[in-house]
Amino acid sequence: MNNRPTAISLFSSGGIGDLALVAAGYDILVSNELMSDRHSLFEHNFPETTALTGDIWKLADTIHGHVRERLSGCELDLLYATPPCQGMSKNGRGKLLNAIRSGQRPPFDVRNRLILPTLRIASGMKPRTVLFENVAEMANTVVLDERGEAFLVLDLIRERLGPEYVGRGEVVEFADYGVPECRQRLITVFSRDPALHRWFEATGTFLPPASHSRNGRNGRLPWVTLRDAISEFPAIDAGDPTRAASEVPFHRVPLLDESKYWWVRHTPPEKSAFDNQCVACGFARNPPHVARRGRDGINRTSDSTPIYCSKCGAMLPRPSVQREGKHEIMRGFTSAYKRMSYDEPASALTRNLSYACSDNKLHPEQNRVLSLREAFRVHTIDRFPYEWKRKDGKPTRDKLIREVIGESVPPDGLRRIVEHLLNISSGSVRPSQATDFGPLFSGRTPESVPHGFVD
Ligand SMILES: C[S@@+](CC[C@H](N)C(=O)[O-])C[C@H]1O[C@@H](n2cnc3c(N)ncnc32)[C@H](O)[C@@H]1O
Repeated sequence: MNNRPTAISLFSSGGIGDLALVAAGYDILVSNELMSDRHSLFEHNFPETTALTGDIWKLADTIHGHVRERLSGCELDLLYATPPCQGMSKNGRGKLLNAIRSGQRPPFDVRNRLILPTLRIASGMKPRTVLFENVAEMANTVVLDERGEAFLVLDLIRERLGPEYVGRGEVVEFADYGVPECRQRLITVFSRDPALHRWFEATGTFLPPASHSRNGRNGRLPWVTLRDAISEFPAIDAGDPTRAASEVPFHRVPLLDESKYWWVRHTPPEKSAFDNQCVACGFARNPPHVARRGRDGINRTSDSTPIYCSKCGAMLPRPSVQREGKHEIMRGFTSAYKRMSYDEPASALTRNLSYACSDNKLHPEQNRVLSLREAFRVHTIDRFPYEWKRKDGKPTRDKLIREVIGESVPPDGLRRIVEHLLNISSGSVRPSQATDFGPLFSGRTPESVPHGFVD
């Protein structure tokens, strides 16, 4: 063994988060991921790691065995786990609530229980530090343990790791670490490393101070905007087959059909096509598309939003469908077919990043969604060596790329976090530097506590 810190990666997918670990200096000994296509990307990019593909419930003991073998008697420094979040995510929460109420889904989502085998591996292996990454909603998620007892996930983590470990979950806005994308995640760190213990007692947090903020005041830099990130890429156009791609690799977008292109083409900056106004007579006061929360707590958009101009009667370039020969407003949220702002970071990239109909997916000015190449930039993947190639030699489809991006955190933000943990552990930062910018940011002080504590 060399003397680099060691890690294992659970729920590794294509290894986007793992780029941060390797950049910080970790050797990733073992990885586990259910889906072979995602893990094949991982295997191509992390050839030194023992990659175990399959269900963590079935592979927990095998993972344990391989880690022990690779450690050959040494301690494991970091267990990095990113269990899937579909059972907790805000996306689709209305649908989820409906399904639970109508008895189509159990109130406790089995996908949330993946924390159980994860904690079994953690308590068997006793890593110096564990780092979980998940959606912010994980903090309030209840899971049933093996005995059927209900626990808040964070309480379960605390209970299973035992008193040797200290830590907490904190909501991080990745734009605060200089990422040109607003993405909030719950970062949960628990550690039994004595240096991290001392740090946590003194500061109450394991997170590095934010380097950026929305307004860039009080010594922080302003958020990196979409303009900063992508304006250099050549213009492309989703309405023209000869201009929907460029010579820049991955700088391509799916074509929009004629109607969709018409809606998108008339969508002003930062607006949704659902609010488009009349292009025939120029009347600009047709009622916008609105959403209201019903008594059942579910947010619904109006189905009576007009699609014909109230002044001249012409059709508005708003998303509509034809039913029984009649045009009606399409079902969709007020953020569907909406342009992002050039003067803010991108909205969170999801696996639907190439679908104009999904939330906040339109380019700020051009008539299209973001290209995959732009997504690599926004998600900070292009700050690291990474190839979209599979070890099994099969082609990497765009759908796989979108899924892998949509389910991962921007690695450069995570790099800041794991480097900070290593610096604390090695004693190269002092607790006083947790709440001021110290030498990192030339002694300026932050405007407030950097992150919202959730427990
Ligand atoms: C949030 S994503 C992980 C993102 C990843 N860490 C990255 O940086 O790209 C969660 C992953 O867990 C995987 N997964 C879901 N159920 C699993 C199971 N039972 N065993 C192992 N992996 C599973 C999913 O296929 C998905 O790729």
